[in-house]
Amino acid sequence: MSGQPKPSTFQLTSAAVTNHQRICREHYRLTLNCPDFGDARPGQFVQLSPETIPQLDDCDRHTGDGYGSDQETSLSTPALPFLPRAFSIGGLRRRGANCEIDVIYRVVGVATEWMATLRLGQHISVLGPLGQAFPIIQEKPKAFLVGGGVGIPPLLWLAEALTNAGIAATALIGSTTKELLPLEHAGNPAPCEQAAEARLTSTEFAQANTPVIISTDDGSFGFKGNVVEAFQAHTRVNSIDQSRTVVYTCGPERMMQGVSEFCAQSNYECYICMERSMACGVGTCQSCVVTLRSQGPRNWRYALCCTEGPIFASSQIIWE
Ligand SMILES: Cc1cc2nc3c(=O)[nH]c(=O)nc-3n(C[C@H](O)[C@H](O)[C@H](O)COP(=O)(O)OP(=O)(O)OC[C@H]3O[C@@H](n4cnc5c(N)ncnc54)[C@H](O)[C@@H]3O)c2cc1C
Ligand code: FES
Repeated sequence: MSGQPKPSTFQLTSAAVTNHQRICREHYRLTLNCPDFGDARPGQFVQLSPETIPQLDDCDRHTGDGYGSDQETSLSTPALPFLPRAFSIGGLRRRGANCEIDVIYRVVGVATEWMATLRLGQHISVLGPLGQAFPIIQEKPKAFLVGGGVGIPPLLWLAEALTNAGIAATALIGSTTKELLPLEHAGNPAPCEQAAEARLTSTEFAQANTPVIISTDDGSFGFKGNVVEAFQAHTRVNSIDQSRTVVYTCGPERMMQGVSEFCAQSNYECYICMERSMACGVGTCQSCVVTLRSQGPRNWRYALCCTEGPIFASSQIIWE
């Protein structure tokens, strides 16, 4: 978390798709078998790209609306070339030399449209594990995980790591509407006008024994309001010792800024997972700067999100 990031041991792997499921209207879970994947911890990410560069006849065959829909396509290459894209590791399982990682993504553009076409057994390029992990703070036995949209995947894996470390986590998960929640629900959320009680209603978080509070902006599921409001409401009606609690957040930048500001006002230690466009992911291209507070002659400095981040203490960030 200092200016001297721990270098990660990463490699470029040819990974086979072993599972690929649609989870909700726009989110998919992709499972990749990455042989000899290095040591990795929650918060770290991978850079994904096709193994082959599209040829002109591939572009001609691309029909435009096939990607991201249920329409079958035989293409293993995308319609257009693109730089690798970063995806948080949403889960990791090792069996001997095999290592399976989960990525949860939302279809928004060229790379994720290509990913939505991937079939079982197809191979793609995976560079990783990259970046710094969320710190696990043993002195703080309580944690809140506050996430929205594609910020949820790293929190799923973090929930598992916190439970294994004996830290009691509660997840607060927000979305604009029920249909865009990338989670399976084993039951209705608690009646939660005040977001008072977290329950084991999300199948994925329940596997990590982590209760959740769900919020939707339109009130179609759980607490009506955004996830920052749900977090504020929950802490208002429950007695929480801030000095023994840590907050982790990942999601849209405005949401993380709201969480960070509330944590600063309420004296919670808070860590965020920053998102930047990352052309290389390994500190070479300088495309991913984040502005941090600094003790130097200027009171700010640039950090590379890919190597010094993507996890930062929220108190370090100068929001733009
Ligand atoms: C460390 C890190 C971890 C990340 N983890 C994940 C992850 O777990 N899952 C995931 O889906 N993405 C994740 N991303 C974002 C991912 O790298 C891609 O930027 C994103 O999926 C869009 O790629 P694309 O090529 O499909 O869209 P592009 O063609 O690059 O973008 C198309 C349009 O969509 C907009 N857009 C980009 N991202 C989003 C978004 N999330 N929601 C709405 N609009 C968007 C862009 O501004 C642009 O206007 C992560 C990024 C970083 C840096
Ligand atoms: S993505 Fe290239 S330096 Fe960070």
